[in-house]
Amino acid sequence: MDTELLTRTFVEYYEDRGHRRITGSTLLPPPGDTVLFTTSGMHPLTPYLEGRPHPLGRRLVNVQRCLRTTDLDEVGDSTHLTVFEMLGTWSLGDYEGPRSLDWGHRLLTEGLGVDPGRLHATVFGGDDRTGPDTASLRLWQELGVPVELTVEDNWWSNGPVGPCGPDSEIFLWTGDGPPRSTPTRDDRWVEVWNHVTMRHRRLPDGSLVPLPQRNVDTGLGLERLAALLQGKPSVFECDVFEPWRRLVPGLWPLDEPSLRLVGDHLRSAVVVLGDGVRPAGTGRGYVLRRLVRRVLTVLWRDDPSRGLGDLPLEPVSHTLDHFRQDDGPEQVRRLLVEEERRFGRLLERGRQVLARPRFRGPLGEDDFRYLHDTHGLPRDLVTGLREG
Ligand code: ALA
Repeated sequence: MDTELLTRTFVEYYEDRGHRRITGSTLLPPPGDTVLFTTSGMHPLTPYLEGRPHPLGRRLVNVQRCLRTTDLDEVGDSTHLTVFEMLGTWSLGDYEGPRSLDWGHRLLTEGLGVDPGRLHATVFGGDDRTGPDTASLRLWQELGVPVELTVEDNWWSNGPVGPCGPDSEIFLWTGDGPPRSTPTRDDRWVEVWNHVTMRHRRLPDGSLVPLPQRNVDTGLGLERLAALLQGKPSVFECDVFEPWRRLVPGLWPLDEPSLRLVGDHLRSAVVVLGDGVRPAGTGRGYVLRRLVRRVLTVLWRDDPSRGLGDLPLEPVSHTLDHFRQDDGPEQVRRLLVEEERRFGRLLERGRQVLARPRFRGPLGEDDFRYLHDTHGLPRDLVTGLREG
C-alpha cells in the first residue's frame, strides 16, 4: 500500500463516518500563530478548536504537511523525518475520545490489515491537576489491547500556551518475535497515531482553563505507517523517497546514515522552498539555511567538489508534484545552488578569520559575538570549522 492509497483509504473511511475533507495548508501557519512552521494538523484549526464554528461542520478529516525541527537530531533513525504528512481527524465538540479510538482501531485492523496482536496503547494516568483518562482505558480493555499508563508522554500541547489535553497513543510492534514489554520500555513499539482529547487551554501563567467545547484531535504519521505496512525497515524506504534513493547514491556514494540525512534534508528544503520560503539569517529562512548547510557539510566531508548543481531534477519535481507546489524544479535547484555558493564563501571567510592568532586558543563569548557581528559567522559554523 503506497502513501496515496493509504491516504485515500483513510479519508474515505472518515468520510463514511460523517467527516468532511478540508484542504491541508502550506507549511506556513496562519498569521498570528507563534510557531515558525506548521508542526501538526491541528495548527490551521486552532480557532475552531477554541469554539469558532467551522463552515464544514463538526467532523473533519485532512492531510497536512508538517515540519518539525525538534526531531532534527533524530532524523536518520528509522522513524523520524523533518517534513512529513499527518493524516488528521477532528471532532469539534461532537463525539468523544473513546469513539475516536474505536474507529482508529477498526481502521488499522479491519481496513488496513494490521494484526491486532501487534498493537499497544498508552493512556494518560492522571496528575495533580487532571484525573486519569478512565474512558480511554476502558475502551482499550474492551477491545483487548494492552495499555500502559503514563503522565508526561500522554499529554499533548501545541506549545507553552493554547489548546491541550490528555492523549491516547497507538503503537505498532516492529520487532521480529512476538511483542514484548511496553512502549515506554522498548522502542520497537513505534507510535503511529495520537488521539488527543483537547478540552483545555493553557494560559501564559501555566494554568489550565476549559475550552468552550470538548474536541478530539488525532494525527497519524503517513510515511511512518506506510513504511510499516510496506514491511520496510525505515521511513526512508517508503514510496515518497523512491527517486531520492534511486538517484542520490549513484551521484554521491554515502553511508546509510548520511544518505538518510541528505535525502531528508534536501527533500525538506525543496518543500520549504516550494512553499515560498527563501534562505535568510533568521526565522523560517534560517531553518531552511540550516537544512541546506547540514547537507553540504555531509557532502563536503568526503569530497569538497560535490555540488547541488548535479542534483537530478527528477526527485525535486517528484517532491514538488507530491505536495502540489507550482515552482519549477530548475528554479528550486537554482535557489539551492545559490545558497550553496553563499555557504562556500562563508566557510572560506571563516577559515581565513579563524586562522588569525587571536583565535588560536579557546573562544569566549566576546569572540563569538565579534565573529558573528563583524564577519557574519554563526556560532555553530565557527565551532564546526574549529573541530574540522
Ligand atoms: N496534534 C496531535 C499530534 O500532533 C494529534 O500528535
